[in-house]
Amino acid sequence: MTKGNIVSQPTTNRDARLKKCLNRIAIYSAAGVILLANGFQATAANAKKEEIAPVPKMRKNDLTPIPDIQKPVSAHSPYQDGDCSLCHQRKDRNDPGMINKQVNELCLDCHDDFAKVMARKSSHVPAKINCVTCHNPHNSKQPKLLVEESEALCLSCHASISNLVANATVKHDALTTGAKCVNCHNPHAANVEHLLTRLPFDLCVGCHGQDGVKDHAGKALTNMKALLAENHEQHGPVAGKDCSACHTPHGGNNFRLLTKAYPAEFYSPYEPKLYDLCFDCHEESMVKDAKTTTLTKFRNGDQNLHYLHVNKDERGRTCRACHEVHASKQKHQVRDAVPYGHTGYMLKVNFTQTPTGGSCDRTCHVTRSYTNSVAALVPPKTDAEPPKAP
Ligand code: HEC
Ligand code: HEC
Ligand code: HEC
Ligand code: HEC
Ligand code: HEC
Ligand code: HEC
Ligand code: HEC
Ligand code: HEC
Ligand code: HEC
Repeated sequence: MTKGNIVSQPTTNRDARLKKCLNRIAIYSAAGVILLANGFQATAANAKKEEIAPVPKMRKNDLTPIPDIQKPVSAHSPYQDGDCSLCHQRKDRNDPGMINKQVNELCLDCHDDFAKVMARKSSHVPAKINCVTCHNPHNSKQPKLLVEESEALCLSCHASISNLVANATVKHDALTTGAKCVNCHNPHAANVEHLLTRLPFDLCVGCHGQDGVKDHAGKALTNMKALLAENHEQHGPVAGKDCSACHTPHGGNNFRLLTKAYPAEFYSPYEPKLYDLCFDCHEESMVKDAKTTTLTKFRNGDQNLHYLHVNKDERGRTCRACHEVHASKQKHQVRDAVPYGHTGYMLKVNFTQTPTGGSCDRTCHVTRSYTNSVAALVPPKTDAEPPKAP
């Protein structure tokens, strides 16, 4: 998907993502392998409504030079030289007069490399209009001549992000460590949409590509780069490099910065609302009916094993009991082992896929196998495999 000439990740835009899912519904329903939820049109329309944020207003700064006794943190070399006429009409410190040119022309006279920067595929409106919306041309109590602390500066105009950040119960340290907003965005211009310095996937994996990143409770987070390198069966949206299909980069109110609800614990009473994330793209009926021969392949004859494991009033197994939602070695995102208890012990799942179903060996229970193939119950007619996803 491209917007003009802007490089975008394959599925950044939610509408496009849903449209892509819709296409997949057709493919997968036909194959009878996987069912994706209906009602995408409505969801897409709502999402679109939410996404329209008011255009930020420009800000007016006091650009008077800061007296030396106030110990500015950064100072502009041409200002420090003391020759005000580099930019103003006169040399006179006490009465330098107006500036010689329109502001940005003035800046670009010396910062000629910025002509190239600003010519990138998308540029930031305030930078295009006026460099001094963010920089004091003389000196500043902030680094880089900024008129305000950098995150506060961004949030002063971006009210909707500011509200989101202030109200988020799950905060993302990516916004508050290092260069803050500028960890991911270029304040001037960029070749990737939303002024991102790199494709979102590369940004995410850039920070989440090491061991030892800890969440706010002190728990070490998965090294996603290593996980993806070692596990080649990637979940659809992950294979599409679309981390923001499920995560909000700026913070939110769901476990693990997820866009929708998903249980935080290993066991959970069954309640469809708790799985909004999965059922945004997958059909809820998969776990709803005790008996089925169509809604899922995780069944033994007509006994729905998704229902059996997940749909319980108490200690229902959450999807993570069997699936690693990002990537796995086995097909269907079935994981090799699952963290059990709080000691770090990994319980092996020992899943084996068979032509007519599968089995789990010495795991939560003794070896059990299931048969989902009608061919195994009825005399074999064809051995055709279901069509593969494009
Ligand atoms: C690198 C260019 C540059 C240099 C050098 C420079 N100025 Fe400025 N100055 C500006 C710009 C740009 C503005 C904002 C003008 C505007 O927005 O209309 C400004 C505005 C001002 C203002 C008005 C502040 C306000 O908020 O309206 C004062 C006072 C001032 N400069 C003093 C000085 C003095 C004194 C010197 C020399 C010691 C100096 N400037 C050197 C670029 C410069
Ligand atoms: C007369 C030449 C000249 C003009 C005009 C000029 N600059 Fe600079 N600017 C410099 C020089 C020289 C440096 C220091 C070079 C460096 O560190 O790479 C600099 C550095 C900067 C820095 C980095 C400061 C830091 O602490 O790292 C910023 C930000 C900046 N300029 C913004 C502006 C803006 C905004 C304008 C227009 C209002 C402007 N400049 C106009 C010459 C100029
Ligand atoms: C929306 C706010 C904003 C506007 C508008 C803006 N800048 Fe910046 N600028 C920043 C921030 C934030 C940084 C610090 C980036 C960082 O730390 O990597 C910065 C850094 C810089 C630097 C220092 C770069 C370096 O590598 O040290 C220069 C030079 C600069 N800006 C020039 C400009 C010029 C010229 C314009 C107008 C075309 C402009 N800026 C408009 C926010 C802005
Ligand atoms: C003076 C106000 C102002 C400041 C300060 C400001 N922005 Fe913006 N920003 C805007 C405006 C106006 C737009 C264009 C919005 C639109 O067209 O809907 C914009 C657009 C953006 C976009 C692109 C949105 C998109 O979907 O393409 C991003 C990302 C962004 N700003 C990030 C930042 C960051 C990061 C900072 C701090 C370095 C910052 N802004 C500071 C006014 C500001
Ligand atoms: C971890 C990387 C990251 C950081 C840090 C970050 N952003 Fe973003 N931002 C993104 C991504 C990714 C998108 C595109 C979202 C999407 O695809 O849905 C985005 C989109 C945006 C947009 C345009 C779309 C929207 O939601 O309105 C604005 C404005 C924005 N960011 C501002 C900010 C500000 C302000 C900060 C600092 C408080 C910040 N961002 C920090 C990654 C980041
Ligand atoms: C600048 C580095 C940086 C970038 C870029 C970054 N993260 Fe993070 N992220 C962190 C750090 C540090 C933590 C641990 C502290 C915390 O939870 O905020 C974290 C935590 C998380 C968590 C767990 C949050 C929780 O508390 O449960 C998720 C999920 C996450 N990041 C996803 C992403 C995604 C998706 C992206 C890309 C859009 C991304 N991160 C980009 C630094 C980063
Ligand atoms: C299909 C939805 C989905 C996509 C796409 C997705 N995630 Fe996740 N992510 C989740 C879920 C669900 C969890 C919680 C898993 C759990 O606790 O069992 C999670 C957890 C995480 C965590 C915390 C891991 C931990 O050790 O607890 C990080 C970091 C993370 N994701 C980063 C990413 C990055 C980076 C991408 C893009 C490569 C991505 N995610 C794509 C759904 C997704
Ligand atoms: C007890 C283990 C287990 C749990 C818990 C579980 N699954 Fe599965 N799931 C499987 C197995 C095994 C398969 C592969 C079935 C096959 O093709 O043989 C599968 C297949 C799937 C498929 C492919 C389509 C289908 O139904 O055949 C989807 C989608 C899926 N699971 C989603 C989920 C979601 C969403 C959850 C949580 C609500 C969940 N699963 C919980 C074991 C589990
Ligand atoms: C943004 C849409 C989206 C979300 C959200 C989502 N999925 Fe998926 N999922 C897909 C797509 C698309 C596929 C098909 C994979 C392909 O075509 O490669 C898939 C495939 C799967 C499969 C493998 C099916 C097979 O037979 O190989 C499992 C298991 C699965 N998803 C589980 C989950 C779970 C558990 C959740 C919630 C934590 C979830 N999904 C959330 C889009 C999504």
